[in-house]
Amino acid sequence: SSEKVYRASTTAPVNIAVVKYWGKRDAKLNLPTNSSLSVTLSQDDLRTLTTASCSASFPASEGDSLLLNGSPSDISGARTQACLRELRARRAALEAADPSLPKLSTYPLRLVSENNFPTAAGLASSAAGFAALVRAVANLYELKDTPSELSKIARQGSGSACRSLFGGYVAWRMGDKEDGTDSMADQVAEAAHWPEMRALILVVSAAKKGVSSSSGMQQTVATSGLFQQRITTVVPENMAIMENAIAERDFEKFAEVTMRDSNSFHATCADTYPPIFYMNDVSRAAIRAVEAINEKAGRTVAAYTFDAGPNAVIYYLEKDTEAVVGTFYHALQGADITGWKNESIKELKCGIS
Ligand code: PMV
Repeated sequence: SSEKVYRASTTAPVNIAVVKYWGKRDAKLNLPTNSSLSVTLSQDDLRTLTTASCSASFPASEGDSLLLNGSPSDISGARTQACLRELRARRAALEAADPSLPKLSTYPLRLVSENNFPTAAGLASSAAGFAALVRAVANLYELKDTPSELSKIARQGSGSACRSLFGGYVAWRMGDKEDGTDSMADQVAEAAHWPEMRALILVVSAAKKGVSSSSGMQQTVATSGLFQQRITTVVPENMAIMENAIAERDFEKFAEVTMRDSNSFHATCADTYPPIFYMNDVSRAAIRAVEAINEKAGRTVAAYTFDAGPNAVIYYLEKDTEAVVGTFYHALQGADITGWKNESIKELKCGIS
């Protein structure tokens, strides 16, 4: 009947890049200037749960809506609208091909989304958020699209979201078409291929980042000379070495590329005019702590990486948990940082999925 409420729920994980996406060649379609590669974190630790529902009985005047962590959230932005428009168009195509299908594409959508981690934890939640939104609506609409196809839709919400459609080790291939139809994610390896991988997230600051990734990227593309070298030489090399390191489960290589790529990305930020600084004194102390841990172990057991904010993500293997997690806090405390309160730093241990 027309009163029927259609509903679908899904979860999507957080991913942390080891070769970073930084720079758009098309801001409207979120087409990147370089390919990137990430590790998907365990949904037991970090995930977004989204339920999408629609019904002919929902008043048309209400329009589409999103309740995020219990509060009404604005979805009028171009990014969210692009995702919803694409999903509706695909549903409408199915309905046109099969007139017996209910016309879900014409009903208002209600989205309810929740993170199992505090949004204020300073962790990028947009990747999991857009991936969950896209998959929930795709499930509701019974779309037959593959995860890579859906990744092209999620990409338009937030670039990094396209990688959260997959588990394990995931590449986002930049593509070279102007319409973005070849800019999508694929799985490089399942989590089970290298299940010993772990991530330690050091929440240095829960505050919202100073410069958004979009404006940071825009400024970097426009004013950094170093950026040109990054996209033409550094990243293509890092992608190739990283895919090999994952295939061979070579942590030493994985770690070196992870740290070098993070350093390269932050160097291009410092090279913009005026410069952008995402890392702070505690971030730099975390880098020193990783170096000290590796030196003490006599081999590379930990790799740091930083996104567009001061929080550190440390990758390590399960067998080295004691050497890394067991001594990290201690190593950090040895750092002499003015005005730094240890108590404000939180550690979050994550598996991969
Ligand atoms: O997805 P966005 O637009 O928030 O950009 C994410 C950029 C980085 O997190 C810094 C790097 C990445 O590849 O995730």
